Amino acid sequence: MPDQNKAPLAEAVEKHHQAGFISFHMPGHKGCAEQYPHAEQLLGQAVFDSDLTELAGLDALHAPAGVIQEAEQLAADLFGAERSWFLVNGTTSGIVAALAAAGNADGVILAERACHSSVTSGFVLSGATPYYLEEQYDEEAGIMAGVSTETLEYAFANCSGVQAVVLTHPSYYGTYSDLRGIVRIAHAHGVPVIVDEAHGAQLMFTGQGIPSAMECGADIAIQSTHKMLGSLTQTAMLHLQGSLIDARRLQHCINMVTSTSPSYPLMISLDSTRKRMAAEGRQVWDANRRRAEQAEQAIRRIPGMRCTTGFRGADGSVRSIEKSRLLIDALPLGLSGTELEAILREQFRIEAEFSDSMRVILLLGSGTSDEHMARLIQALESISAGRAADGSSGREAALRKSAGELFRLPVYVEITPRDAVTAPLEILHPEEAEGAVSAADVAVYPPGIPVLRPGERITRDILDYILRAKEAGLSVHGLIESESGFLLATAQDRQKAMIWNGYF
Ligand SMILES: Cc1ncc(COP(=O)(O)O)c(C=O)c1O
Repeated sequence: MPDQNKAPLAEAVEKHHQAGFISFHMPGHKGCAEQYPHAEQLLGQAVFDSDLTELAGLDALHAPAGVIQEAEQLAADLFGAERSWFLVNGTTSGIVAALAAAGNADGVILAERACHSSVTSGFVLSGATPYYLEEQYDEEAGIMAGVSTETLEYAFANCSGVQAVVLTHPSYYGTYSDLRGIVRIAHAHGVPVIVDEAHGAQLMFTGQGIPSAMECGADIAIQSTHKMLGSLTQTAMLHLQGSLIDARRLQHCINMVTSTSPSYPLMISLDSTRKRMAAEGRQVWDANRRRAEQAEQAIRRIPGMRCTTGFRGADGSVRSIEKSRLLIDALPLGLSGTELEAILREQFRIEAEFSDSMRVILLLGSGTSDEHMARLIQALESISAGRAADGSSGREAALRKSAGELFRLPVYVEITPRDAVTAPLEILHPEEAEGAVSAADVAVYPPGIPVLRPGERITRDILDYILRAKEAGLSVHGLIESESGFLLATAQDRQKAMIWNGYF
């Protein structure tokens, strides 16, 4: 029985430090924090002491065979995987590696349309062709509600050469699909399921009845341990089970996107977070669920404030939002999500995770306290008291419409993301770009979900959406700003278009 009270990597680094070595190896700071007073003040001597490299007894992340392997195996044991990898460049790197391990230029990968931009990078590295799975949009809640099993069946019936399915579980908004049903269908076709569980490392501890990706039988789950569980930013874990993905190929792909000088402080934080979650995960996440439920009740009593707690899933059933987050809106007070977020930040020193036109999303984590929750509720009460409900239902309707607009835009994949990013670039003004093929991810913030990905046709509707966002002062990533306005990066070589059309 693995001993979850151990933290093999953290203990090995501690032992190395206590042995009193002097350093003639990298890194160059040699543990002398006092030479960098600013960093010493902010990070402390201890970070410099543990910022080691792959020394004897400290193993190697690219070919783990010692304390890193032991630490990863303890993580696999806790999270229900056969094998786990520590990642030092976020879920981002795990997704890219997973797609590269599962797919190649001969096949198709089915992906949820609202997937993270790292999925695009995975398409580029693998060379696979994307087929986007249509997601349900819950008009009433104003959020994406996942992919239905019928949509997946349809995709399998209409695509040949499917190499993997990629899904997000749960989404930023705490919505999710019937992952068990999706895994069952994919496995019936002999196809692996890769789950972007960046927001779901807590699922197995919360007791909310939302199964984790590993519990649903997914082949790969990649979790941003840093987002919810408490390890340092940039850290994540990739979990693997089953035989549909070759572990050796996966190791190779992870190595391709990982520094050969991985940070020991980051890896130690993964090891010690796993240890804490093994010991206290259920308590920590039970407490957070209780906090979220109490906050939902309190918010319901605040005039003009609302909390979205449920959504209509892709299969039509009503489900609870994953309770490690709060989705709060003040639309009855005439405030958009972005405005509410700004008030919380500027007047109450409360930083939310993000906002869209309708609402603010606040994340709870392993460090959330009752005091944090009390301050939030007080702030919302105070905002409400200072503003009368203005009955601006016209504004609410407009904000709701704009929240759903992105998801109504049709997508036309013309060439593969790899062909699009490797084709010669042509930089075009918006008026010339209609009909051209994008060479870049273009995303309006909020919500930050790409409206264009490399290889997709730039349509009039998409250009209008971008223009309206610019006029509204929203930030649009992926454009080239110039004195005469913005420009779009397009793939010049249109010859390749539709060469893989036979897939559909
Ligand atoms: C759904 C989703 N997937 C993946 C990522 C990437 O995670 P990381 O920041 O750990 O690289 C994010 C980051 O925000 C995300 O929201």
